[in-house]
Amino acid sequence: MRHRVEVMHGVNFDVLGSRNVEHYGGISLTELEVKIKHFARELEMEPSFSQTNHEGDFVERLHRAGESADGLILNPGAWTHYSWAIRDALEVAGLPAVEVHLSAVDEREEWRRTSVIRDLCIGCVQGKGVEGYREALELLRARLR
Ligand code: DQA
Repeated sequence: MRHRVEVMHGVNFDVLGSRNVEHYGGISLTELEVKIKHFARELEMEPSFSQTNHEGDFVERLHRAGESADGLILNPGAWTHYSWAIRDALEVAGLPAVEVHLSAVDEREEWRRTSVIRDLCIGCVQGKGVEGYREALELLRARLR
């Protein structure tokens, strides 16, 4: 059976292509999702995608995640650094999850070095751009096997 992975993007990912090229590479969310689909196909995994700018929607998506996914890849954007609501909802989801960031958050501003979800995740991949999502899928696959 193929492992089902929900790839969840948070706030400001709808405008990814317009964001700081140095940190985010100028890629659009649609282009990013195409790349992730390609990685998932190679790894024989089944991805699904969501993005929202509304914290409550992200929380509710996490509440329901177990109905359609075996594992999660989370890039909540800025919420990573302060949303205790998202942390609590991730606990409710109870699925193996990998935290991903396109940029190297631990090497940027001080406020980005805090992650309120990291200790609930099986791993964190950061600063590897699009390729980081392949690594995250591999981590999940190893855990779900
Ligand atoms: C990000 C890093 C966050 O600090 C930032 O707020 C984002 C994107 C990343 O993928 O590098 O929105 O999660």
